[in-house]
Amino acid sequence: MLVQIRQVLTREEVAHCRKVLEAAAWADGRQTAGEQSAKIKLNLQIPENSPASRELGDLVLRALGRTPMFSSAALPLRVYPPMFNRYDTGMHFGAHVDNAIRYVPGTNGFRMRADVSTTLFLTDPDAYEGGELVVEDTYGSHAVKLPAGDMVVYPATSLHRVNEITRGSRWGCFFWSQSMVKDDGQRAFLYDMDMAIIGLRQALPDDHPSVLALTASYHNLLRRWAEM
Ligand code: NI
Repeated sequence: MLVQIRQVLTREEVAHCRKVLEAAAWADGRQTAGEQSAKIKLNLQIPENSPASRELGDLVLRALGRTPMFSSAALPLRVYPPMFNRYDTGMHFGAHVDNAIRYVPGTNGFRMRADVSTTLFLTDPDAYEGGELVVEDTYGSHAVKLPAGDMVVYPATSLHRVNEITRGSRWGCFFWSQSMVKDDGQRAFLYDMDMAIIGLRQALPDDHPSVLALTASYHNLLRRWAEM
């Protein structure tokens, strides 16, 4: 399941992120890569514990807090501190799967499981060529390239890559979430059900017996599957 969420950041927030990132010190992205992905990763990142990373990470977390679609798609239990990267012309990230377990920076060795991956775009698509995020799932591969401020949420279990940039530079924010529902299929099912209930609530009164029954079923399934 691949969910695109529009306008997670306002234009002002995107502009602020870009301004802070312009002044930040970029480092080789291989520092946070696993053994397999380090060989195929060529990009730049802001070091995880830098002031820029923390300030902008908090801004992104606040934006997630006002984005119900993110909660619905990811059912997040924990969110890894958001990180920031850029791909300049010639840069790319070959096919890989994100590491399953992450040490959370700034904690005393606290670990979390990465169930859901998210990419938030910080450059508008007309400012660069190439640079699509390509995610493989059971229905084939999907190339994603969104307006600045929009984001895509997809299972961390999926093979994905970033195509080489052939013009310009692509800036973005990415992070992982540990979901209350670790199974991709169960999480996708709950998301579909949630969207259907939202649709029904627009068409029917909130106290309609079918709306009540489906809402109850949603919560009871979540209660059965959620782990905390
Ligand atoms: Ni990745």
